[in-house]
Amino acid sequence: MKKVQIGSQEALVGEVDELCRALADEVEALLKSRAGEGKPAVLGLATGSTPLPFYAELIRRHREEGLSFANVISFNLDEYEGLGRDHERSYWCEMWKNLFDHVDVKPENVNVPPSVAENPDQAAAEYEAAIQAAGGIDWQLLGIGGEGHIGFNEKGSSAESRTRRVTLARKTIVDAAPGFGGEENVPTHAITMGVATILEAKRVVLMARGASKKEIVHRAISGEVGPDVPASFLQKHGNVGWFLDDDAAGS
Ligand code: F6R
Repeated sequence: MKKVQIGSQEALVGEVDELCRALADEVEALLKSRAGEGKPAVLGLATGSTPLPFYAELIRRHREEGLSFANVISFNLDEYEGLGRDHERSYWCEMWKNLFDHVDVKPENVNVPPSVAENPDQAAAEYEAAIQAAGGIDWQLLGIGGEGHIGFNEKGSSAESRTRRVTLARKTIVDAAPGFGGEENVPTHAITMGVATILEAKRVVLMARGASKKEIVHRAISGEVGPDVPASFLQKHGNVGWFLDDDAAGS
């Protein structure tokens, strides 16, 4: 793994395994220091394919090295509207399948925005309030969408945006279609943490893998900061980490 300067930002570039170990090291250090203080660690988590090997590494550390998640409060970035928790493509289900079922997190400490809510605007405001009530996010993991979204903050999302109901971009729906057996089955709306919500996390890490992310990753890291590429707002965060495999970095 090497440090690479891209514009004003420093990125960590290497093999996926190395990136996952470095990310897991950060989480492990946070969990241990919070346990020492007798306080919970608040993790912001992402779904999608990017974090899967990282979650596998956390599970391995839990099983083989006894890393405990009993002291974790988690908040996922986003959730599709209308699927319901039991739907296999819901982010709720994905998180349990890929991480929570395999570690000792307390179910009552797991938070994912509701997929079905009588009043989505109110549900979003309550989610935002729950993050604040937990003391804010200590460590936030992000992937990046093909057009630069973080969470489901699509192109046009402002730096001041908070947790809210959003309309998914066409590209997001097209990218998700294979998993849903066709575009017509992909939800059109979601609830997502806002850009401002994400930027308030004490540490933010963005992981990107694969050549298909290379161009957007470079626009996010060294392009103009603004709503055209919501991930570019991270350039303004004082404690951001960019974790890129060789293909995403283009090295
Ligand atoms: C997922 C999320 C999205 C994904 C992004 C990348 O909770 O918020 O922003 O991180 O769409 O998805 P993958 O990792 O599948 O390429």
